[in-house]
Amino acid sequence: MDMKSALAPFGASNKLRNLVTIALMIVPCVAPPAFASDDAILAEARKVATTLPPKLIVALQDEIKKSGAEAAIPVCKDMAPKMAGEISRETGWKIKRVSLKARNDARAIPDAWETAALEDFDRRAAAGESPMKLEKGEKIGDEYRYVKALPVQALCLNCHGPSETMSPGIKAALGQHYPNDRATGYTEGQIRGVISVRKKL
Ligand code: HEC
Repeated sequence: MDMKSALAPFGASNKLRNLVTIALMIVPCVAPPAFASDDAILAEARKVATTLPPKLIVALQDEIKKSGAEAAIPVCKDMAPKMAGEISRETGWKIKRVSLKARNDARAIPDAWETAALEDFDRRAAAGESPMKLEKGEKIGDEYRYVKALPVQALCLNCHGPSETMSPGIKAALGQHYPNDRATGYTEGQIRGVISVRKKL
């Protein structure tokens, strides 16, 4: 055996090693782990969507305690959209609250994707799933969309409960602002609507 053929196997294995090295360098670049990035955008959407409701609940509680439920109407009416606008500006996500039984026709009517999610959430809550946990995130075209259920709590019944349990003052004030109000008759644990957030990817 001459020198050249004796070394051939080493040459081949060097070439192989080089190929493997190059492949290892390229693979992470061309094949980003799809699940990790989907998880990251879902986590971001969830974080944006969960910023508003606790702040709103605290504001409602404070105002109801201080001045009564009727005086708290502006919290859900003006403060909620204002806070949503602020979070939008800070995060770049569009934020809405929508419902199958909208109170405010001008801003709370769901589109087809939101309607499907709301109907699915209602079915799942009726079948026993915890409404606190219901959410859906999906990439659609060049956008990421996410919705999270807003369950009815005792506090909400002041203004979204069965008509016969609501105070005459609240009913009158709501009737004045929202002639097409559909957002009454709820009981605790039902889904009042969703927070809906979306962002261009
Ligand atoms: C003091 C009265 C009051 C209380 C308490 C209240 N809401 Fe509302 N809610 C309103 C009013 C008024 C609107 C309409 C807001 C608007 O004009 O955009 C509204 C609208 C909403 C909307 C937007 C969709 C729609 O139908 O227009 C959601 C979702 C909602 N409320 C959920 C809740 C939840 C959940 C609670 C309890 C944590 C709650 N609200 C408590 C008065 C109230």
